[in-house]
Amino acid sequence: MADTSTRRAGEIRHVPLLEPLIGDYEERCRTFGWEQARDLLAGLPDGGLNMAYEAVDRHAAGPLSDVVALRFLDRGVPTAELTYAELRRASDVVAVGLQALGVVPGDRVCTLLQRSPALYLTVLGTLKAGAVYCPLFPAFGPEPVCDRLSLGSVRVLVTDRLSYERKVAPFRARLPHLETVLLVDDDAAPTEGTASWDAMVASATDALDRSSFEIARTRPEQPALLHFTSGTTGRPKAAVHVHEAVVAHHVTAMWALDLRPGDVYWCTADPGWVTGTSYGIIGPLCRGVTVVTDSSDFDARRWYRVLQDQRVTVFYTAPTALRMLMRVGADLAHEHSFPALRHVVSVGEPLNPEAVVWGVEAFGMPVHDTWWQTETGAIMVSNFPGMPIRPGSMGRPVPGITAAVLERGPDGRAAVVDGHVHVLTEPDAVGELALRPGWPSMFRAYLDDPERYAQCFADGWYLSGDLARFDADGYGWFVGRADDVIKSAGHLIGPFEVESALMEHPAVAEVGVIGKPDPLAGEVVKAFVTLRAGYEPTPALQRELITFGRHRLGSVAPREIAFDQALPHTRSGKVMRRLLKARELGLPEGDLSTVEGQP
Ligand code: WT7
Repeated sequence: MADTSTRRAGEIRHVPLLEPLIGDYEERCRTFGWEQARDLLAGLPDGGLNMAYEAVDRHAAGPLSDVVALRFLDRGVPTAELTYAELRRASDVVAVGLQALGVVPGDRVCTLLQRSPALYLTVLGTLKAGAVYCPLFPAFGPEPVCDRLSLGSVRVLVTDRLSYERKVAPFRARLPHLETVLLVDDDAAPTEGTASWDAMVASATDALDRSSFEIARTRPEQPALLHFTSGTTGRPKAAVHVHEAVVAHHVTAMWALDLRPGDVYWCTADPGWVTGTSYGIIGPLCRGVTVVTDSSDFDARRWYRVLQDQRVTVFYTAPTALRMLMRVGADLAHEHSFPALRHVVSVGEPLNPEAVVWGVEAFGMPVHDTWWQTETGAIMVSNFPGMPIRPGSMGRPVPGITAAVLERGPDGRAAVVDGHVHVLTEPDAVGELALRPGWPSMFRAYLDDPERYAQCFADGWYLSGDLARFDADGYGWFVGRADDVIKSAGHLIGPFEVESALMEHPAVAEVGVIGKPDPLAGEVVKAFVTLRAGYEPTPALQRELITFGRHRLGSVAPREIAFDQALPHTRSGKVMRRLLKARELGLPEGDLSTVEGQP
């Protein structure tokens, strides 16, 4: 076996650690620049930068090489673990295997997998080969999966046989770019158009034993990750993130999540979403911690057991999960003990003040909220450890980030007049939350859609699509979304994508989809359907449409269907989702901006 550790060790620079943020937030905001953060990473020769090198190889050649990097649990029971040294080697193997399949820098590699070693190794191996990794959420139905594979011109997909046969195989003809499908844990004989992951790993291991692997010398501006996200109209958008994003992943994993070597860290977000990569893989590994990961379904007792038995020190989760734990009651928490736990953090939706306080009762510490988006790539606003928390507030901007709220126009978004926006400076003024571009993890494009990308910016600001206010002390408060995008259980759902799928049912003439407030999920998808002539609005048809939706869409399907033969329209003929929502909530049919998104 070729041992490359000596060569790699020679490349490692010793880098000073930035002090934790605790206590000197204001000072750090004045003095911090992103160049400083870049200096905390090792980098590659000639100004190169590769996320996987910073996350794994850097540690594998240093004092952390024998520390467990990843520990896999199956329903709470440990099944596998990899040290940083083992992870380096195993991800090299996958990079070699992908290269042998013809994958070249810039190619897109997708996973459609539950949390498993193959998923994590694909992420890292893809980055090491200089290709672009794109996760797919395993609970998506065939329609969202194939749309994304097609929009991303994905060349290699790693999945399991069941997902492949149900969600991809029937549509393979629509996916001319998809050259290779690797099936994980598959004993069946390979079928046409598929190959075995195990066989790929076996031959790449042989190849690596015979020669050595050199990590792709990616440039900081080279694409690394592709994350699909949902808008109000049209197809999903793919946000392009570059290798330089790792600078922000690292610093925010340090300041907002407070991660340090020695930590045992659990992020409950699925790796199919941006949180699962930025803070389930890249950021924490950059910090040299042990990342634990468990099978996906929620179970309060098991979750407490994982926190206790794994001696988790930092826990990153979501409001929906916290609400589910709250519902079970604190007694269950008290049957366990969490002496190792130091920091509990939340993201994805508004965190109810009660949940912040409940953290003290259940874990002995408040929950810290953080705010960011697929587009921002990393945490932008956060309640930092050691700083006073205001329950209900998203916190304060990360040092290096300039945030503001902009005056709104009639459509609820920032008003742009002659190319200019108006920054609201009075405390508590509600406007569209905006950020000054220039942080390393900012998305660099929507794939193949420069127009939609350009629409995200005005007058030197990135426009988030969220409504917020900042109080007199600079704490940010989420008010709602400025658009019709639905947030259910922490996941963005594009109403248009759902409407388009339902329109394919012969009974459906027209449909409008909204997010209906839900005590656990924040929102659930509700569809208002106008029927074609000859169809009766029966409970049976309602059930049929729900099943139809679930088959097509999977987890983003509507939970509720209502029949409405008189959907409200704009003058240009679009269904007015806002009005549907106002009616659903029994609200005046005017401005909804101050109620949406409130828990
Ligand atoms: C949208 C972004 C969060 C990263 C992964 C999901 C909502 C996010 C908060 C928060 C209230 C929040 C916003 C945002 N959101 N964090 N702390 N409080 N709302 O990224 O899927 O792109 O979703 O999630 O509406 O715009 P995403």
